[in-house]
Amino acid sequence: MTAASACTVAVATPDARYDILIAAGLFAEPSAWAGLPASAQAVIVSNPTVNALYGDALAAAISRHHQNVSRVLLPDGEAHKTWDSLNLVFDHLLAQGCDRKTVLYALGGGVVGDMAGFAAATYMRGVPFVQVPTTLLAQVDSSVGGKTAINHPLGKNMIGAFHQPARVLCDLDTLDTLPPRELSAGLAEVIKYGPIADMAFFDWIEVHLDALLARDRAALARAVRRSCEIKAAVVGEDERESGLRAILNFGHTFGHAIEAGQGYGAWLHGEAVGCGMVLAADLSAELGLVPAEFVQRLARLVQRAGLPVRAPAMAPARWLELMGVDKKAEAGAIRFIVIESPGRAALRQVPDETVLRVIARHTETAGAAA
Ligand code: NAD
Ligand code: GLY
Repeated sequence: MTAASACTVAVATPDARYDILIAAGLFAEPSAWAGLPASAQAVIVSNPTVNALYGDALAAAISRHHQNVSRVLLPDGEAHKTWDSLNLVFDHLLAQGCDRKTVLYALGGGVVGDMAGFAAATYMRGVPFVQVPTTLLAQVDSSVGGKTAINHPLGKNMIGAFHQPARVLCDLDTLDTLPPRELSAGLAEVIKYGPIADMAFFDWIEVHLDALLARDRAALARAVRRSCEIKAAVVGEDERESGLRAILNFGHTFGHAIEAGQGYGAWLHGEAVGCGMVLAADLSAELGLVPAEFVQRLARLVQRAGLPVRAPAMAPARWLELMGVDKKAEAGAIRFIVIESPGRAALRQVPDETVLRVIARHTETAGAAA
């Protein structure tokens, strides 16, 4: 394998252009790491779990390009996507005397990637960073597109910045060690691309879901590549989410409310998105945009992927409160990504009573949220 034989997806925004490399064995491929921003110092941002698995391989891969490679490890998990963790990165950068050329390498899933990216966006007003995603979710979504953030107790990803990476390196080998629950969580974001952009891809996922769950390398490579192609196209058109990019949040208004409402980490992000997509599809059906069969088809696939399709019981007022803390909300009005027709999504404001009717239909304890 050479980096040239890796599949490459280009991302181009008004201010940045970078490649996503997708292949097995990237850590051992010198050309994959060549041509990144030059700097004597590099810092690997990771967590103890991922560092134990891949920290040494990454350090070896980049030590040819940086004289001083250090590591900072953040506590593992969504519950730690906080100011305190972010400050650990700043403490390390300052203690190491890192300058504004220092390159940060985000090694891990979306939690590490979002925090390392936010640190890179803000340290000395911005330093370069490289995404080395090791979860399926991060390879198909969070490592691409430059959204970086931490959570606030009142709302998910509420504090952050746009900062594009210099490169994204998706080594498919890393997916071999991913716990099954995390693989399923990543599949939620893969499935998402079907209803919002490409129903032929959705058909393909339906056929190849068992291969994906069995970690068939060719199936995973195709899923990561197609997901990245769709995300790159959307981000290229609307980097700062002034319109189109919001479609990537299909299922996320419900999902973020579930994550915040249950306590960060109780539901995995991908699990909340999987369930959220079923609710958002049903909301689309309630508005007369898609047939009920479409909702059932999506729910079947989400369930087959090992993801929950029933929402946790929360009081209606709590749902509305949590969904109101959403970056798509405008002048206090909650807005949802709906499916206008399978393969095409749009942002809509929907009356609260319609939303609550849909939630009640899909809630774990029947009637509890009604
Ligand atoms: P995560 O980062 O918490 O990783 C999941 C778990 O898997 C962690 O315990 C991690 O240590 C472990 N892990 C990671 N790689 C591993 C490997 N190869 N082998 C074994 N264990 C491994 O979760 P995630 O699902 O990757 O990311 C979720 C986060 O991504 C959320 O915070 C979400 O908000 C964010 N996100 C951001 C964007 C964006 O555009 N920036 C998009 C989607 C999601
Ligand atoms: N995952 C949503 C986005 O990148 O815009």
